[in-house]
Amino acid sequence: MKKDGLLETRLEETRVFAPNDAFRSRARIKNLSEYRRMYEESLSNPESFWGKIAGELHWFKKWDTVLDETNAPFFQWFVNGKTNISYNCLDRHLDSATRNKAAIIWEGEPGERRVLTYWDLAREVRKFANSLKSLGVKKGDRVAIYLPMIPELAVSVLACARIGAIHSVIFAGFSAESIRDRVLDCSCSLVITADGGWRRGNVLPLKKIVDEAISDCDCVKNVVVVKRASGDPFPCRVKEGRDHWYHRLIEEASSDCDAEPMDSEETLFLLYTSGTTGKPKGIIHTTGGYMVYTYLTTKYVFDIRPEDVFWCTADIGWITGHSYIVYGPLANGATVLMYEGAPDTPDKGRFWELIEKYGVTLFYTAPTAIRAFMKWGDRWPEKYDLSSLRLLGTVGEPINPEAWMWYHTTIGKERCPIVDTWWQTETGGIMITPLPGCVPTKPGSATLPFFGIDAAVLDDEGKETTAGFLAIRKPWPGMLRGIYGDAERFKETYWSKWPGVYFPGDGARKDSDGYFWILGRVDDVVNVAGHRIGTAELESAFVEHPAVAESAVIGIPHDLKGQALVAFCSLREGAEGTEDLLAELNDLIAKKIGKFARPEKIIFSSELPKTRSGKIMRRLLRDIATGRALGNVTTLADASVMERLKAQYEE
Ligand code: PRX
Repeated sequence: MKKDGLLETRLEETRVFAPNDAFRSRARIKNLSEYRRMYEESLSNPESFWGKIAGELHWFKKWDTVLDETNAPFFQWFVNGKTNISYNCLDRHLDSATRNKAAIIWEGEPGERRVLTYWDLAREVRKFANSLKSLGVKKGDRVAIYLPMIPELAVSVLACARIGAIHSVIFAGFSAESIRDRVLDCSCSLVITADGGWRRGNVLPLKKIVDEAISDCDCVKNVVVVKRASGDPFPCRVKEGRDHWYHRLIEEASSDCDAEPMDSEETLFLLYTSGTTGKPKGIIHTTGGYMVYTYLTTKYVFDIRPEDVFWCTADIGWITGHSYIVYGPLANGATVLMYEGAPDTPDKGRFWELIEKYGVTLFYTAPTAIRAFMKWGDRWPEKYDLSSLRLLGTVGEPINPEAWMWYHTTIGKERCPIVDTWWQTETGGIMITPLPGCVPTKPGSATLPFFGIDAAVLDDEGKETTAGFLAIRKPWPGMLRGIYGDAERFKETYWSKWPGVYFPGDGARKDSDGYFWILGRVDDVVNVAGHRIGTAELESAFVEHPAVAESAVIGIPHDLKGQALVAFCSLREGAEGTEDLLAELNDLIAKKIGKFARPEKIIFSSELPKTRSGKIMRRLLRDIATGRALGNVTTLADASVMERLKAQYEE
């Protein structure tokens, strides 16, 4: 199956790697038949399977039924159960030896280190939860968090969860306008930020960006500011009555704060992600199902142990950080490493130095990072002792077999299983993945579905096929419960392609062993260096510039980033495609979305290829940008446009 030329079947990959014996011998699941038995049970008897798992966690009140499907696709999990995820991540561990172990080992980019034991973290979270209450935050209120990767970010989400406030973390690379849109969409009453955060030797002026973002957001009553950048060179303007220093609040707060008993289906957080329209979607995750699912996936996919040091290099601003830096590992009582800065600061060995220094055992990163490491050369990892590593993981985009093999040999020394985990913001947790002690891996394949995940490859009609669209045919506990304020869009986006089946928006292949090979997005979402970007968001930003009449943005393959963005902009009468205009448009995207969304190339043209009914033909633009022979142009209103555009692109 091909759609717009995006999906291309990869080269047949024949290499297979059996799980390493040492790993297998102590893994929770040691053989495929055990996996199959549990998988079958999870699908045929979700009630007992998930009930058993949920029973490993603390509930103030047990659920009545595990799954209620009556109001599909608004599924409900652990119906009428009462729990609290902050309680399960913290308090649950305080009566055991876990109380004194490191929950978070943190290193700042400039090199400072902080270690918070479970006891320390619980105390800080309770204090900050009280601070939030003292600022009037109540259960159900929305709190935006715009912080660098510092422990206070984990504290903030856990403090919100503790009192039932709904957190909406905004990645600290987003612009003021993006923050404003997100804050307004769900009417946040409070924003948590920092004076600054370190990135590549520079301080990002986060508080300044927040000030700009919320200048006209009446809903925001309070701003909490963490002092991170020590004042210089970013003196931080404090608005009396609205802004509060985090450290002052903590000084004054009591460390007594009971966790709010939350209904399983009460919202835990919103996380905005890009879709096919210009407006990001506020993905809703609720309490009970998300908690059980992140707990279980962390336990089995990483085969996590009390003595492990788990390092997930994602930012908590994305779902990966929510699920596998904060909630999943802490619910398991594990130790996480959290690092603030860039992988190449002060030099390109920083990640490997961190692994050696903290004895990291489980390392979870993105293919785009792996490709950058490859390019930087083996001499960087070779300088460090990586023998503590026992498992490697990847997430965020398809991994090319070459990068997989490099990861396997140069970092894993052919000893560490690699888990290539497919999932999404919407799925809450890992969906398709090898289980490291029992599933043989193939470079580039996410292999088999996790427990409870009825994954399939379907064609347009919903029939099973070997190359088509990825589909999930049954509900699972970590699933999104909706899009904030837009139930129709939720049904339309995810549940309308086939009746009763979840459509993730990815293309996939399934091979004769039943292994899944994820091929990438089939909609107008582009995955640039692991960042999910909606082309429609860029297009609507471009046309705000007075010189731009129309715009079409597409994704093309990129060696390092996986995909890159190319923007075609047709200009208004009299406007010229100068270097200045190019710079202005790049600035516009940085301002409207964030620097990370700036396209690789912007091509100016007098017109764009359109069908007779006026639809821009992105498929043809992709042909031009990838240097392919031009596809069928007979439906174009004016076929000569293509020749002119092609010549221009090549120029
Ligand atoms: O296209 C798939 C890709 O990332 C998309 C989800 O992006 P996001 O919601 O930002 O979440 C990323 C982290 C979970 C998916 O629709 N994707 C994610 N993991 C993989 C992947 N593509 C291939 N292989 C993966 N392992």
